[in-house]
Amino acid sequence: MDTRIPSLEKYQEEFERSLASPEAFWAEKAEHFSWKKKWDQVLSWNFEEPHIEWFAGGKLNITENCLDRHLEKRGDQVAYYWEPNDPAAAGKSYTYKELHREVCACANMLKGLGAKKGDRICIYMPMVPELTIAVLACARIGAIHSVVFAGFSAASLASRIQDCDSMLVLTSDGAYRGPKSIAIKSVVDEALEICPSVQKVLVLKHTNVPIEMVEGRDLYWQEEIQKSSADCPAEPMDAEDMLFILYTSGSTGKPKGVVHTTAGYMVYTEYTFRNVFQYQEGEVYWCTADIGWITGHSYMVYGPLLAGATSVLFEGIPTFPDAGRFWQIIDKYHVNIFYTAPTAIRSLQLFGLDFPTQYSLSSLRVLGTVGEPINEEAWHWYHQHIGKGNCPIVDTWWQTETGGIMISPLAGITPLKPAFATLPLPGVQLVIVDQEGKVLLGNGVEGNLCIQFPWPSMIRTTYGDHERCKQNYFSTYPGLYFTGDGCKRDEDGYYRITGRVDDVINVSGHRLGTAEIENAINQHADVVESAVVGYPHEIKGQGIYAYVICSKKNDDLAMLRLEIMATVQKMIGSIAKPDKIQIVSGLPKTRSGKIMRRILRKVAEGDVSNIGDISTLLDPAIVDEIKAGAI
Ligand code: PRX
Repeated sequence: MDTRIPSLEKYQEEFERSLASPEAFWAEKAEHFSWKKKWDQVLSWNFEEPHIEWFAGGKLNITENCLDRHLEKRGDQVAYYWEPNDPAAAGKSYTYKELHREVCACANMLKGLGAKKGDRICIYMPMVPELTIAVLACARIGAIHSVVFAGFSAASLASRIQDCDSMLVLTSDGAYRGPKSIAIKSVVDEALEICPSVQKVLVLKHTNVPIEMVEGRDLYWQEEIQKSSADCPAEPMDAEDMLFILYTSGSTGKPKGVVHTTAGYMVYTEYTFRNVFQYQEGEVYWCTADIGWITGHSYMVYGPLLAGATSVLFEGIPTFPDAGRFWQIIDKYHVNIFYTAPTAIRSLQLFGLDFPTQYSLSSLRVLGTVGEPINEEAWHWYHQHIGKGNCPIVDTWWQTETGGIMISPLAGITPLKPAFATLPLPGVQLVIVDQEGKVLLGNGVEGNLCIQFPWPSMIRTTYGDHERCKQNYFSTYPGLYFTGDGCKRDEDGYYRITGRVDDVINVSGHRLGTAEIENAINQHADVVESAVVGYPHEIKGQGIYAYVICSKKNDDLAMLRLEIMATVQKMIGSIAKPDKIQIVSGLPKTRSGKIMRRILRKVAEGDVSNIGDISTLLDPAIVDEIKAGAI
């Protein structure tokens, strides 16, 4: 059923209705799915524990809704066009019928390896069709997928496998990334040295690099799938059964496993996909996000398939073989809806107009952005040179924890304002609070963004540690879900996200905790202590600035910096490598030992004129040293 909102008046009406009777509203949006048993209760909740249940008593399998439900009407329609890293290599496409068959065979293969409902399965793969197939195959049998972005290091992978005791790892021999071929299996081998829960590793041959296979543990995907039948009935799942875990960084500690459950996630991702992009039958949609992130889960896999869409799945990077690759792909597949990150737009903008003008972009109808604030300059460039002034830009604000888009224009319906995510979607009850938690009413206000009522795809818990979920999201402002973002509501009631207000930084749309980077830096043998802050970066949005105290004087600072970067790469992955490293003799700490990050941020931003009050510091003189040594 097409649940698209057709006009601004209708949006206002739907929004009002979703506030007045949320249960009736979401029951209506859930009706058209295929349920093995209808729900008993639409919603029960409290934000104190927190406890959230949507569609309790309902039984379903999300893959029946992504695949089986479409077979009659669109079995021969393409679900995915797969575009490989190398434009000269052969691509592939999968119709809904073919995808269904592959998912069922893969599901049987997983069963054959001992996987069953409730088991956790780690997926560490490049952007190949088998990644999507693996995700859906897990859901088919009721196993919980935990996809780990294949750019993360062995140490990061190991900690994610350990945290949820994954019993299987699905991977490939290698990955292509632009001109590079990257060893993936060897990262898995290293990680598994400390992961006793893993019984089997399934390896997809992709780049054909030589790899070591551990006897009794490692099996080739291509061989095992041959033995697997393509008939796999979908496991009946409770509405609140776990669908997946996705690890994300917070301001403290190790990345946490955000848990999403089945029915609410399904209903919300489909509804938002249709409405935000105003997806129309037959259109080609392309989201450039890696499936290792939430955008890939919700708007590369589940949302589009639930809506019966045709999507492009791209293995490579925007600048290979040259900076025209995105535009070439849009031209090749006649992409109608293109969804990417501001960082990609900013980096392609630097290459000028020679690339986009080589291709026809006339198929485009809607443009989207996600993951970080988009600056006005990039917004206008995207609008004018890619959308030719004709395509609405949907600036979509949301988070791993929200599961789906929360604030966004509806393409072609909501009047736009550059750099504003504009208005909340129906069902989303935003509030802005000040530091004390006082709700700021009316327009023309700025504060911290919270949500006061549950929505179907919201986080249910953090895997294995419910208390952490409570502390992180529901304790700062009791009774509210706290997003961690700062936000403005302007005179027109439009929302603009101003960035994180906690110790999380957003580097090229990737979310990283400063504490996590500091822990990695501190693993270097010569490092005593470090402090990391973000600073404005022209392309990445935010760059990583590290202040580091060393145990001994080092004459070769360039080498030391390289070693520190290598340490971070080893502990987390190259996305977390600091852009700037300043060696300092001390950090600005208060008498109680707390680092005054405000000062470090100011120095990193290059704004040292107005550093503020430093009288509470243990050693105020350190501020002058830090200012003098700023990079
Ligand atoms: O700070 C916000 C920023 O990204 C954070 C969520 O990161 P993650 O969980 O990795 O999910 C990213 C993809 C949904 C948010 O707390 N963010 C996301 N989208 C926007 C944004 N900031 C501004 N504008 C956006 N459109």
